[in-house]
Amino acid sequence: MDPLPPRLHRDVVSFVRRSTRMNESQVRSWTRHHDEFVVTVPRAELSTSIAADARVDWASEFGRSAPLIVEIGSGGGDSLVPMAAGRPGSDVVAFEVFEPAVASALGRIARDGATNVRLVVADGAQGLATLFDDGAVSELWTFFADPWHKKRHHKRRLVGRDFADVVVNKLAPGGLWRLATDWEDYALWMREHLDGAPLLENIHGGWAPRLAERPVTKYEAKGLAAGRTVYDLTYRRRDAPQD
Ligand SMILES: C[S@@+](CC[C@H](N)C(=O)[O-])C[C@H]1O[C@@H](n2cnc3c(N)ncnc32)[C@H](O)[C@@H]1O
Repeated sequence: MDPLPPRLHRDVVSFVRRSTRMNESQVRSWTRHHDEFVVTVPRAELSTSIAADARVDWASEFGRSAPLIVEIGSGGGDSLVPMAAGRPGSDVVAFEVFEPAVASALGRIARDGATNVRLVVADGAQGLATLFDDGAVSELWTFFADPWHKKRHHKRRLVGRDFADVVVNKLAPGGLWRLATDWEDYALWMREHLDGAPLLENIHGGWAPRLAERPVTKYEAKGLAAGRTVYDLTYRRRDAPQD
């Protein structure tokens, strides 16, 4: 039996809903740290979707006004937490749909004493579009965020021209979008869709050097162990043309 009304099938998302079973340590981290670091937002019909009129006042959430960085698909926080620690002058909002991974990230945040990180358990593409003012984001990170390398799954890919339009609106002029993937055809797809976007500049004119501050996560290690190359890309939001 199909549990969803037909109209809810229309939104194709870049993730798969997996079991939300947590191990003991994840349950502990979730219980102890959820309220401090997870920002809950009003929902639309699906548990991972955000109501169209949802808003968050990030300055009051973080208790200060600082440049905002967004990560989509933060997993267990293996890049998020050390990279946020390296940017004490910025605040980082990370979107992750898989609750056990969020719980692991919470454990890491608490262990490292990070204060400039918040998590939202929701679709980051929607979150970026809904929860941030235009021009409010200084950087966007999408590292190994989705695995859709097979042709029949291309429609699920997070990165594409529609999403690039959202990113262009949300990044401040001069803001950066940093991407990494270990799937060559997805990397080429990113170039194909982003290199031609009028308000994005590929600042290296091609592949970016590996971002030194990005730790090697288990996903990157898995790709390397399987003989794949890891591709980094960095795009800068250009100034809009003056009339
Ligand atoms: C392969 S893992 C990589 C995690 C992390 N970036 C790293 O490098 O360790 C991808 C994660 O992105 C999440 N994800 C994919 N698309 C997402 C979306 N649109 N919004 C939020 N999370 C997403 C998945 O649930 C998964 O946990």
